Amino acid sequence: MPGLTIGDTLPNLEVETTHGKLKLHDYVADGYAIIFSHPGDFTPVCTTELGMMAVYADKFAERGVKLLGLSCDDVQSHKEWIKDIEAYNNGHKVNYPIVADPKREIISELNMVDPDEKDSSGNQAPSRALHIVGPDKKIKLSFLYPASTGRNIDEVMRVLDSLQKASKHKVATPANWKPGEDVVISPSVSDEEANRMFDKGFKTCQLPSNKGYLRFTNV
Ligand code: BEZ
Repeated sequence: MPGLTIGDTLPNLEVETTHGKLKLHDYVADGYAIIFSHPGDFTPVCTTELGMMAVYADKFAERGVKLLGLSCDDVQSHKEWIKDIEAYNNGHKVNYPIVADPKREIISELNMVDPDEKDSSGNQAPSRALHIVGPDKKIKLSFLYPASTGRNIDEVMRVLDSLQKASKHKVATPANWKPGEDVVISPSVSDEEANRMFDKGFKTCQLPSNKGYLRFTNV
């Protein structure tokens, strides 16, 4: 069983958080949500990651995205840990909720378990998993990093911008794309449709196959 992955519906779990109980679908509501797990409270890499999410929180909010952290300790531990996270990150407030999962049930449901990592009591531990959930409550993108590798929040922002652009226009983003750069037109769009759809027109890349499938535009 691969577990929760792209295209699956986020289970509508009721979870305990630093902001009280919430149901996952109510939290996502009509926008996007990023749910990201951490191996444990008071650990070094996690402290930097949760802090960096706090630094970027306003940019995510501008894009209609809510943040939801998760670590397996309890709510009281999370609240103590938040003081360290904010102090390390120059006072940036952690205004998003952090889920508690002391029984390790939620990390199993959300496919966030690291098979190689155990906590000091030998319990299974979460990986650095991250799901981006869309307004339809489906998983649009998943990252799975080991405990030793902190995530790049610029990359989280970049893929979010790519997902939102692709869902708004019939486009996709090429390798190493950054916001503002040209995008490629989906193969499902004919040249005639592309002429109607894209105000700035499009350029077809000439390739040996002459199939005309690599078309760039800017939206
Ligand atoms: C950390 O957050 O620094 C960490 C947590 C578990 C294992 C390794 C690193």
